[in-house]
Amino acid sequence: MKIRFERERCQGHNRCYLLAPELFDVDDDGYAVPLVEGELDEEQVAKAQLAADNCPEYAIELVES
Ligand code: F3S
Repeated sequence: MKIRFERERCQGHNRCYLLAPELFDVDDDGYAVPLVEGELDEEQVAKAQLAADNCPEYAIELVES
């Protein structure tokens, strides 16, 4: 699985960064920046799913790589 991030949806709620700082950073404008582009390991999948579930804008998805 890998992360699909839709920048147009992100409104800068930053829950992804708070819940999974190893997977998401925040840019100077407060929007998320995914840190891992490739295949996620099991632990990363769990964290990415947590971030996806908590993004109010549905900007984060987990997709098959
Ligand atoms: Fe953006 Fe959602 Fe994270 S709105 S900053 S992707 S919690």
